Amino acid sequence: MIEIEARLDELEQLGLSRRMRLVSGPQGPRVVLDGKPVLLLCSNNYLGLADHPAVREAAADAAMRWGVGAGGSRLVSGTMTIHRRLEERLAAFQRRQAALLFGSGYLANVGVVSSLARAGDVVFSDELNHAAVVDGCRLSRADVFIYEHGDVEHLEWGLREAEGRGALIVTDGVFARDGDLAPLPELVELAERWDVRLVVDDSHGVGTLGSGGRGAVAEAGCEDGVDVVIGSLGKALGSYGAYVVCDQPMARYLATSARSLIHSTAPSPPAVAGALAALTLLEQQPRRVEKLQANAALLRSELAAAGFDVPGSGHSPIVPLALGDAATALRSCERALERGVFAQPLLPPQVPLDGAGLRLAVMASHSKSELRDAARALAQAARAAGAVQSEPRRAPQPAPIREPAAVAPGPRARHAELWDDGEGELWVEQRRPVIAAEAVQASGRPFDAELDGPPAPRASRRAAQTAQGIFDVEAPASVVEHAA
Ligand SMILES: Cc1ncc(COP(=O)(O)O)c(C=O)c1O
Repeated sequence: MIEIEARLDELEQLGLSRRMRLVSGPQGPRVVLDGKPVLLLCSNNYLGLADHPAVREAAADAAMRWGVGAGGSRLVSGTMTIHRRLEERLAAFQRRQAALLFGSGYLANVGVVSSLARAGDVVFSDELNHAAVVDGCRLSRADVFIYEHGDVEHLEWGLREAEGRGALIVTDGVFARDGDLAPLPELVELAERWDVRLVVDDSHGVGTLGSGGRGAVAEAGCEDGVDVVIGSLGKALGSYGAYVVCDQPMARYLATSARSLIHSTAPSPPAVAGALAALTLLEQQPRRVEKLQANAALLRSELAAAGFDVPGSGHSPIVPLALGDAATALRSCERALERGVFAQPLLPPQVPLDGAGLRLAVMASHSKSELRDAARALAQAARAAGAVQSEPRRAPQPAPIREPAAVAPGPRARHAELWDDGEGELWVEQRRPVIAAEAVQASGRPFDAELDGPPAPRASRRAAQTAQGIFDVEAPASVVEHAA
C-alpha cells in the first residue's frame, strides 16, 4: 500500500510537490492569483476566447435552452441537437467527412488509441506524447514501441522490427512540453509505406497554427494522410471537451468502440455551445491566429534579447525555458510571481534532471507591452533564482513591425498601441475600446480592429458611438443612459 504521508514528504524533498493556485475571475490575460494581480502566462486560452463575451453568452443561452447536463452518454440519451450541430461545424472546419465529440482531450486520446490497437498489435508512440496517449496505449494492451522524439529513422527501424504487427503511429501535432512540431509529412509517408494508421493529437495546434487556425496537420498539408485528428475544445477554443475528425466509417467505429465515449456522460450543452461560438469567432476573425503568432514571435525575441536560450518552433504559442535543476525552476517561478508574472515550472520527470525551467504560454489577448515587461521580469526572476543566462543581446525585430509614429498624439490615444501588419492595415492594441477607437481615428489610417468587451461604462456619447461603430460592440446600459 502507498504510504501517502511518506510519499508526500519525498516529493517535497525532491522539489516535486505541486499545489493548486487559485485564480479569481475569468481566464483573461491578467488574473488575480491567490489574491495578487499577475500576468497570466501559462493558460491554454490561446485566442482569448474562454472569456469572450459572445462565448460566455452562447454558453449561458445554451444552459437556458438545453439545460446544464447531457444526462447520459452519447450512445444512450446524451446526443443532443447542440452536439450534432457542433460536430457538423467541426467536420466542415477541418474539411473532413465526420467529427465526433468526446468529454475531453484526455478521453478522446484514450478512446481513439485503445480502439485502434489490441493485444498482439504494435503502437508506435513518440517519447514526448501527452500522458493521454500513453494511457490509451496502456488500455489497448498492444505492445508499444516508443520512438525517440521526432526521430523518423528510429521509428522506421521499429516499424521494420514489428514484422507486420504494426497498427498505429500516434503523435502529438504540437508537443505540449516544448511547443515543437511533429515531422508530419515524414510520418504520413512512413504510415503509408508500412501500412499502419496515423493518429495526430493536435490539441495545441488547432486554433494556433495553419491557415485559419486549422492546426498543425493542415499547416503541414497532411490532412489526407492522417486517419484521425484529435482536437481539444479546452484550449484555443476556450471551452471544455474534445473532438476527433476522420472519415464516416471511422467515426461510426469509434462511436461504438471507444470506451471513454461509451462509458462517460456526453459533454454539457453550455460547453458545447461555448465551443460552437468560439469556432464561429475563429472562422470570422482569423486575425486572432495571426495576432497570437505575432505575440509568440515577440515574446521569443524579447526573451532571447534578455539572454534566454529559446528553443522550439518560431510560431507556436508554447515557449519553454530551460534554467537548471528543479529547485532553480521552482525558485524562478516564485521570483517571477513576485514580479507579477505567472508561468508554470517545467519539472523532472517531464524534463531531464538538469533541464528544468519554465513553460510559457502566450495568448492573442496579451498586449505587446505586457509581453515585453514579462520578458524583463522573467530575466530578473531567473537571475535572482541563480539560473545561468547568456549576456543580454539586441532583439531581432519580429514582424509585423510596430509603428508608434502612426498614432497622432492625443491625451488618451497615446495609451493605445498601433502596429502595422505589413500589408498596410493597422492593428490596435488596447483592451478599452474607447481609447482604442480614438487612437485609430487619430491615426487617420485604414485599420482592422477586433476588440472584445463593451465601451467603458463612463464613456461619453461620442466615444461610445465611435467605439461601437469601429468595434461592433454593444454599449452597456450605463453608457446608453449616460449618452441619452
Ligand atoms: C497534447 C495534449 N493532448 C491532450 C490534452 C488533454 O486535453 P483536455 O485538457 O481537453 O483533456 C492535453 C492537455 O493538456 C494536451 O496537452
